[in-house]
Amino acid sequence: MPETTDRGARRLAFGGDYNPEQWPQSVWEEDVRLMREAGVTMVSLGIFSWALLEPEPGVHDFGWLDRILDLLHENGVRADLGTPTVSPPAWFYRAHPDALPVTREGVRFAFGSRAAICHSNPAYREAAARITTALARRYAGHPALAMWHVHNEYGVPVSACWCDTCAAHFRRWLGDRYGTVEAVNDAWGTAFWGLAYRSLDEIDPPRLTPTAGNPAHQLDYRRFADDTLRENFRAERDILHRLAPGIPVTTNFMTALSQCDTVDYWAWGREVDLVTNDHYLITDGRRTHVNLAMAADLTRSVAGGAPWLLLEHSTSGVSWQPRNPAKSPGEMARNSLAHVARGSEGAMFFQWRQSRKGAEKFHSAMLPHAGTDSRVWREVVELGASVASLASVRGTRTVPDAAMLWDWQSWWAQTLEWRPSEDHDARERADAFYETLYDRHLTVDFAHPEADLSRYPLVVVPALYLASEETGRNLRAYAEGGGTLVVSYFSGIVDEHDAVHPGAYPGVLRDVLGLTVEEWSPLGEGETVGITGPGGASLTGDVWSEFVVPRGAETVWTYADGPAAGRPAVTRHRIGDGTAWYVSTRLDAPALDTVLGAAFEDAGIDPRGELPRDVELVRREGDGGTHLFAVNHTGHDAKVPLEAPGTELLTGERADGHLAVPAGTVRVVRLDDRGGPGSGLGA
Ligand code: GAL
Repeated sequence: MPETTDRGARRLAFGGDYNPEQWPQSVWEEDVRLMREAGVTMVSLGIFSWALLEPEPGVHDFGWLDRILDLLHENGVRADLGTPTVSPPAWFYRAHPDALPVTREGVRFAFGSRAAICHSNPAYREAAARITTALARRYAGHPALAMWHVHNEYGVPVSACWCDTCAAHFRRWLGDRYGTVEAVNDAWGTAFWGLAYRSLDEIDPPRLTPTAGNPAHQLDYRRFADDTLRENFRAERDILHRLAPGIPVTTNFMTALSQCDTVDYWAWGREVDLVTNDHYLITDGRRTHVNLAMAADLTRSVAGGAPWLLLEHSTSGVSWQPRNPAKSPGEMARNSLAHVARGSEGAMFFQWRQSRKGAEKFHSAMLPHAGTDSRVWREVVELGASVASLASVRGTRTVPDAAMLWDWQSWWAQTLEWRPSEDHDARERADAFYETLYDRHLTVDFAHPEADLSRYPLVVVPALYLASEETGRNLRAYAEGGGTLVVSYFSGIVDEHDAVHPGAYPGVLRDVLGLTVEEWSPLGEGETVGITGPGGASLTGDVWSEFVVPRGAETVWTYADGPAAGRPAVTRHRIGDGTAWYVSTRLDAPALDTVLGAAFEDAGIDPRGELPRDVELVRREGDGGTHLFAVNHTGHDAKVPLEAPGTELLTGERADGHLAVPAGTVRVVRLDDRGGPGSGLGA
């Protein structure tokens, strides 16, 4: 007898996007049978099914969705039910061609894919509200309904539209934000190049211009576009809350910086009932598991440290890269469980059954074209069992060791035209700082620059070019209160309008860092500089150098050559009870590690040097107990010291003293008692 309870609510989630509309009903019975075999608890349903649910304007056909929801329920599988508003039907665009978005260059996209939406378009907004209302009315009380999945990955692949409807919407947005055109002129510095406006009506979106456009105008347009997406999310969410009270509403984020740069997830995190994320490995020759850990840490951070849910990743290869390698044996489980270690309440995939038709037929799935006699399927079934054995993890929180400041708006500002060097890349700096901490086996929280940082012994700040005065005060208070701060070059320079803070660089961070910077001198392509430090050690930087003038800070590393030869390269400033470090050139992760060694000491952090590289150790604590996740990404067996005995949940074996983590596997120990505070590692 199939379970008909809401078991998914008490377990970690396991499942994927389910698109039964792509298959004849004869396949559905096999689907649910195999879902039971794999331990599937939840599927995401109906995300792209608007054309089926509303085949004619205002005419609904819910029959197939009724049947599939009932079938799922009978088989104990819950539904993360989509509002299909990312994919309006062809008839909608025939009636409203102006709902297709326009690029900055003035080209209108055509129907024939997904996500071709002008989010300012009133007809789109009305139609989205209607289908959402109809779905909410019909399914609010359905026992399979676990949560609502609004839209799909807002901001990807279309982040903004530059059409006339958006122009009018943008003017209203500016009116709300600034009140008067004079205030806009002042904020944007339109006196420069004679760009002043007499009225808001004269302002357009920052369309293609012959040379660099006004940076503040462009920055505000990104904020406007992001706000517009959120307005539309909120409209759907509020309908769902009203008509289906008590059912959580989410929309799937894409926090990996390599995959979405268009939305400010700090703001989005506050809008959803549950943060959910999609993550895909990018094959770029780098260690993909580091990027995965970073995205998972960032997702947890936008959830305020609370548990979140991995709503999509892949069982094996994706289909949208130039080359799409299959995952190696065991890699899927390592990926899935690494997300769980960092706060996910389960592991979900795109998608359940691999499509035969359409654009994504070569994308891997839980049930591949090869069928059940395949490695992917066997690993899926095994992973389902592993996830089921981790039920006690549910509701526990990942314990961080350090924090990294991150601000999407500062990132946006660094991508504008005419910056000091096109080789500088804010994301690259974030990746490098993260990798340094990852290689020290530290679990990293991301924090907004104005957030309370007092709980972290160490805070690193990669290229925070745009920083408010409040950020300056915050970082100073953090260091004075005993924290250890590490700040990279190109931080603290401009305010929210991309206007340079008065006085010498680094603007709002001068005081806390105890220095000024007279001038930047970015390096030529491929050019490097040597820096020398304690005991005659030497390192190499590239991309950036500058003329630092210590004003209270001590020089720890000095430029050995290059434009700033003989001047400070890395400094340390004792301030209050804490310390603020400054790194004025670009160092790769291993070089940063050398420099940060002393900062780790200042912070009193045990850098866990005894653990092998690429063995992750992450701790989740809470009512369900203390869990240590060890993820071995290497080809060698590893041993991890344990602070207390416990039970390894995937094998059921007892572990005491040390935990054996065979090559390429994951182990999760639930400690017998809570253990002391700290890293979870033995002495
Ligand atoms: C996601 C998207 C899914 C699917 C997947 C393939 O971004 O939400 O619908 O396209 O990518 O990797």
